[in-house]
Amino acid sequence: MKVLVIGNGGREHALAWKIAASPRVDRVFVAPGNAGTALEAENVDIAPTDIGKLVKFANENKIGLTVVGPEVPLVAGIVDEFQKAKLRVFGPSRLAAELEGSKVFCKNMLRHADVPTADYKVFRQAERAEMFLREREDVPVVVKADGLAAGKGVIVCANRAEALDAVQRIAQLREFGDAGNQIVIEERLDGHEASVLAITDGRTILTLPACQDHKRAFDDDAGPNTGGMGAYCPTPLITNDLQGWIEGHVLIPTVHAMKRARRMFRGVLYAGLMITNQGPKVLEYNTRFGDPECQPLLMRLKSDLVEILEAVVDGTLDQIAPPVWDTRPSVCVVMASEGYPGKYARGKPIRGLDEAAKVPDVKVFHAGTATLNGQVVTDGGRVLGVTALGNTIAAAKLQAYTAVKCIRWDGAWCRKDISDKALKDTLAT
Ligand code: AMP
Ligand code: GLY
Repeated sequence: MKVLVIGNGGREHALAWKIAASPRVDRVFVAPGNAGTALEAENVDIAPTDIGKLVKFANENKIGLTVVGPEVPLVAGIVDEFQKAKLRVFGPSRLAAELEGSKVFCKNMLRHADVPTADYKVFRQAERAEMFLREREDVPVVVKADGLAAGKGVIVCANRAEALDAVQRIAQLREFGDAGNQIVIEERLDGHEASVLAITDGRTILTLPACQDHKRAFDDDAGPNTGGMGAYCPTPLITNDLQGWIEGHVLIPTVHAMKRARRMFRGVLYAGLMITNQGPKVLEYNTRFGDPECQPLLMRLKSDLVEILEAVVDGTLDQIAPPVWDTRPSVCVVMASEGYPGKYARGKPIRGLDEAAKVPDVKVFHAGTATLNGQVVTDGGRVLGVTALGNTIAAAKLQAYTAVKCIRWDGAWCRKDISDKALKDTLAT
């Protein structure tokens, strides 16, 4: 079978790598891919948002399965278009992807399904939002633009003044464009964050080991929010009991509610959770694999990923054996370009990739990379996801950073504390 992966980040490199290892698969294509996916698969120069061209490519090349990485084409309805063309595709439909595409839809659905989440209110008019903020007690809140904003439409505010400013940015300055047509204001939750991803065919749910992302740019969770500077798996923050609770009180009710709403959810349901003193609460849903969470997750998956993905497409997830995981934890350290998550330069030659690849139990996933005259160069903010297995989280961390030290380019940097939360958070709770 031929498989097409859509996207060009570290998540898609990990997907292409794991899919290429499947005995069911002869050829893997990645559209558009990066310098790393070109090593595992064949890159196809089509943008993830060019749905018409992707359908045409899949038809002409007899693609047996397409796997969609990023949220933008999912929310735009890529899965519906592939299905109309009778092509097999892994991911939620446009209506199901609204769980990620609209925070208002997500919050209303959570409330409806009785899934724990922060208290919230929705506003269509800035004046109403401002009045609400002025009239209530001055407490920390989070102000969110409704639509997709590349992870930037969420503004965590310490007080009323900051919240009023956030409303201005979304509604008057239109920093996030039409994504800001509706505004969610919700209570700010305190606790530790974790990512629990599940694969579902709409009926059966396969909950994956919990991960922890590191969203802030700098060590000790300082600096601006990013797409994620590193992740590890599993996180001791989510015990087996807690994982069971999350499945029963968060994932299953959500999947059922989506089915009842005739928005059957098929694909990856990713719950971004805050583990509070009152238990886990949903911060957001994503409708795809997380990036970087996908990298440490797939590093540990021993079973055939393609068997699982096909079972979702066929609605037969209840008929396959549970996946086998490497018992060893994994740690993924993101190496980024100078200036990220703000402006950064591209085209810096990357050295030391061969040396890094020789470090045992390490896989270097590419994200923002390209090939220029036979040389791998930087081509994005998050450039590489150096991922390692180890007998303990500390050993996996050491291994990942040993490989990181081999890699150099002008302006390369990374957080130095990826996975340290594992120890700190468990001690603190
Ligand atoms: P989201 O895209 O909704 O996950 O938000 C991005 C980040 O904002 C989350 O990972 C949290 O760190 C933070 N955040 C979102 N909602 C809340 C909340 N209600 N309370 C505290 N932090 C939040
Ligand atoms: N790691 C966060 C995300 O994929 O949205």
